[in-house]
Parts: sequence; structure tokens; C-alpha cells
Amino acid sequence: MAGYQDKPISPSAPLSAKALHWVDQRFPLSATWKAHVSEYYAPKNFNFWYAFGSLALLVLVIQIVTGIFLVMHYKPDANLAFASVEYIMRDVPWGWLVRYMHSTGASAFFIVVYLHMLRGLLYGSYRKPRELVWLFGVGIFLCLMAEAFFGYLLPWGQMSYWGAQVIVNLFGAIPFIGPDLSLWIRGDYVVSDATLNRFFSFHVIAIPLVLLGLVVAHIVALHEVGSNNPDGVEIKAKKDANGLPLDGIPFHPYYTVHDIFAAAIFLIVFSAIIFFAPEMGGYFLEFNNFIPADPLKTPPHIAPVWYFTPFYSILRATTSQFMYALEFGVIAYVALILTKSRLSGFIKMIIAGAAVLALIGMFVFDAKFWGVVLMGVSVMILAGLPWLDHSPVKSIRYRPDWHKYVYLVFGVAFLILGYLGVLPPTEARTLVAQICTFIYFGFFLLMPWWSTMGNFKPVPDRVTYQPH
Ligand code: HEM
Repeated sequence: MAGYQDKPISPSAPLSAKALHWVDQRFPLSATWKAHVSEYYAPKNFNFWYAFGSLALLVLVIQIVTGIFLVMHYKPDANLAFASVEYIMRDVPWGWLVRYMHSTGASAFFIVVYLHMLRGLLYGSYRKPRELVWLFGVGIFLCLMAEAFFGYLLPWGQMSYWGAQVIVNLFGAIPFIGPDLSLWIRGDYVVSDATLNRFFSFHVIAIPLVLLGLVVAHIVALHEVGSNNPDGVEIKAKKDANGLPLDGIPFHPYYTVHDIFAAAIFLIVFSAIIFFAPEMGGYFLEFNNFIPADPLKTPPHIAPVWYFTPFYSILRATTSQFMYALEFGVIAYVALILTKSRLSGFIKMIIAGAAVLALIGMFVFDAKFWGVVLMGVSVMILAGLPWLDHSPVKSIRYRPDWHKYVYLVFGVAFLILGYLGVLPPTEARTLVAQICTFIYFGFFLLMPWWSTMGNFKPVPDRVTYQPH
């Protein structure tokens, strides 16, 4: 512990230096700046993928600031909410801008965060020693989904209302407690004023608090272990005489300038959307949401906003016929674990026992319940990634070439699921969604095997970097 020490400062020092000295004696201001910015050594081979973390921070700030201004005029009351949003759009000075920044910001947040996660996947950034960085990230992702879901009810349009109705009803599929649980979440028998009030409270205070805490934990954990890089080489393994990583450069100014450039590009695209296409063809703001909520009129087609649709597709793909394929999948997967995995006999027994219980459950409970389970697992499985990937190298650069196709097939399946999720289901679409669901889960669950297969390329000792 440093503790308080009365260190003298020259009486002729400038006033600013004296003020900083006074603060530093009482609060680790310079020390924090140094540790996390000016003397945080980041790998010198970062590429554009490394800008998305800072962009996510930027969008977070945009959402908080615009959110504060929206709350000044918004009314969380079922009789007033829709009109208060219209009032913001038409009468509040610059209200339209603030509202469109916030609604576009929600989609931008997901675009940036999905790309940020994809970078982690490509370069194995979730691998040891960054498991906690990743797990905090998964927590952030869950909070973002909750935040977006709660926020979407607030304008009290048709889609807000019926979207919330559909999602809360899903909890009703949980055996025994389901109906009471959805009643408890809504606070009423249908989505109503009570629901709007509690969603408002979660959206403006509870979730943002947790989100901010997780973002701080995410960055503190990252700075504890240091950043990964496109080569997946640990820069801390090779240090100079002063103990500084040979392949590291101070975050400031080298990457602050890099991130400011990325922020400028981002803001150009962000502004273009806000000024010219804030609804983005119904993807960012659904057209039905410009109609006030009507509890007596269900829209013919209810779809969640695009960022939820891959997971929503998995839910809808789980039909009663699909349950047979699922049962077969569970049996085949357990057979694979029992015969081909190096797990201890005890763990294998636990897995086999859980599989037997799941199989019994598949006969007892209906497909709707399993759809909800699969949707939940499809998000939570991300948390298992650090332990599912057994590849001897981190970065995709040094993996066998065919691994790239595995990632590609996974990515395409995820995009198809997303696209199908916005469309009304047909028999053919459901079949495609079912195949993509198998690809999605296969990618993760078979990773312990496929990630070790093939000819890996030699990983260099030092990062690869061409000055430009
Ligand atoms: C509000 C959302 C988020 C913010 C503000 C945020 C912020 C950041 C920042 C500033 C960095 C360092 C710069 C960079 O490497 O890009 C970073 C790194 C990282 N983030 Fe996030 N993040 C968020 C969400 C997530 C999510 C959802 C995940 C994964 C599930 C994730 C996983 C990671 C990983 C693995 C790293 C280390 C990357 C590496 O060193 O290669 N983050 N994050």
C-alpha cells in the first residue's frame, strides 16, 4: 500500500503541476492514467478489429447521455408513453435527434459488439489467461440483450407491446412455475401499465448499473493480463532490460489516435443513418411501432428486432418433429463423449446422467419448453468457449486452412438464422432454421475435437509487424 506520504514539490512549479500533485497525494489520478493509458503496453500489431472495444465504449456513452435527455420528457405511463415519444419527436427542441441517436445507438451497439466478439473468436482472445475478460464480456452481452428488450417496450407501440407479450409468455412454457412466473414478470395478466413501469425502472437504472460495473470489470481484467493480438502471441513473454514487452507500445498516444480515427469513421456512418434512414427499412425501428399499442389487435406478424433474431429462430425451429432430431443428437453426443473424450470417469457419469434426465424430459415436456431452453443455451454456450476450444494455437492465422471454412459455415448459419428470424415461418424456412440450429450448436459442442485436428502452422516467437 502506497499510503499518504507528504512528498514536497518545488515552490516554483506551475500551478497546474501543484494542483495535480495535491490530487495525486490523495487520489491515484496520475498512477491510474499511467497504468491504464499512457503506460499500458499494448501489442504493436493491433489491426482494425481492435477498435471495436473503444467504439463499444463510445456507443455506451452515447446511449447513456441520450437516455438521460429522453427521460426528461418521456412518461412511463401506458396512457401517456406513446404520445410522450411523439412529443419528443415533434416538439422538444432537437428531441428527434436525441431519440434517433438512442434508437440507432441500440442497433449500433449490437453491430459493434457482435464484431468485437467475432474478433475474440478469430484470434482466440477468450483463451487462457483471458477467460474472465471473456466471461465479463458474456455478462455484458446478456445485460445488453436485457437492456434492449426492456427499452423496446417503452415507446408503447404495437411491436413494443406484442413483442413483450410474446417474450414474457415464453416463460409460461417452463414446467410447474411457468404461468406464475410470467404473471410475476408482467405484474398483471397481460402486458400493462404495471409492466411498463417495471420495465422502465430496469431499463433506466438497474441494468445500466450492472452493465457499467461489468464494463469496468471487463477492462480491469483485460489490463491485468494484457491484450491479445492478431498473432495470438503473448507479448509479456519477451521483455527488454526495463521489464517492458519488446512488442508493446504505449496505448497513448499510439492507440488513442487509432481509436479516434475509428470513432470518426463510425460517427460518419452513424450520422448518415440517423439523418437519412433512422428506421433502416424497418430493421432498426419496426414500422408497426409507429402505431400505438392496442391490446385488442394482435399484429399479423410479430418479429423481434434484428439483433435477437438468430436466437429467436432457434426457438421457433424447435418444433415437435425437431425433438426427434434433438433426441438423436443428444444420444450421439453423449456416445461421443463416453468413447472419445479424455474427461474423467466421474465427469462422464455426470454427463451421461444429465443426458438421461434430458431425454426423459424431452418425452415429458413439450417442444415449446425445449425451444426456450435451446434459445437460452444458444446464448449461454458462449461462456463455455474458453474450455471448449482445445486448439494448440490461439489465432486463426496459425490454424489449419480448413478451420477457416468451419468458422465461415458457422458465421453463415448464424446470419441465416438471423434473417429467418425476421420472416414469418414457412415449412421450408423452418427446415433451414433447424439445419442451421444444428450447425450452430455443432460448432461449439464439437469444438473440443475439431479444434485439435489438422496441421497447425508454427507460431512465431514475436508478433508479425510491418511498419507503415
Ligand atoms: C459494452 C460492451 C463492451 C465494451 C464497452 C467492451 C470494451 C472493451 C475494450 C475497450 C477492450 C480493449 C480494446 C479491444 O481489444 O477491442 C475489450 C477487449 C475485449 N473484449 Fe470487450 N467490450 C464489450 C463487450 C464485450 C463482449 C460482449 C465480449 C464477449 C462476449 C467481449 C470480449 C472481449 C475480449 C475477449 C477482449 C480482449 C481482446 C483481445 O485482447 O484480443 N467484450 N473490450
